[in-house]
Amino acid sequence: MRKDVRILLVGEPKVGKTSLIMTLVSEEFPAVVPYRAEEITIPADVTPERVPTHIVDYSEAEQTDEQLYQEISKANVICIVYSVNNKKSYLCSPFTVCVCFRVPLILVGNKSDLVEHSSMETVLPIMNKYTEIETCVECSAKNLKNISELFYYAQKAVLHPTGPLYCPEKKE
Ligand code: GTP
Ligand code: MG
Repeated sequence: MRKDVRILLVGEPKVGKTSLIMTLVSEEFPAVVPYRAEEITIPADVTPERVPTHIVDYSEAEQTDEQLYQEISKANVICIVYSVNNKKSYLCSPFTVCVCFRVPLILVGNKSDLVEHSSMETVLPIMNKYTEIETCVECSAKNLKNISELFYYAQKAVLHPTGPLYCPEKKE
């Protein structure tokens, strides 16, 4: 059994990483957020899988590339957040670095409240190309949509990995 799970959020500036974390914690959409949320730990008894879960924010405005690589290397799963209304944010700059570290990735399309159409068509080719991507989810911090689900998927990707990342000899 794992003793804990470390979830890192990365993505282009302003896609809503900090808002997602704060919304999960307070169950309401914060009007104002800092660049970077403090690391939070969710105690085992309130997580669906009963494992303490650390959630780590990243902000280009406050952190160096060096700090980003350190966080990527410590993470058990990385949520690659993009904004569904901004095509340029779909493939963020740390994306390829995350892929290199071979941790499970979750694609998170935030701000679903702003669009009528799903971004799935656009992200499906990305998912097919990178086997590291465990799943994708569209959500809205503003409408509190799919927030707990996204952190649950991240937890699940670590605790019950599927696909080619799972190698029983190596991951024990
Ligand atoms: P950096 O820290 O600069 O990298 O940005 P970030 O990714 O942490 O984004 P942040 O949470 O600061 O949000 C950026 C802006 O998007 C803020 O004005 C938020 O209020 C807004 N925002 C965040 N989530 C949503 C959402 O689900 N819907 C809408 N409409 N706006 C959102
Ligand atoms: Mg932020």
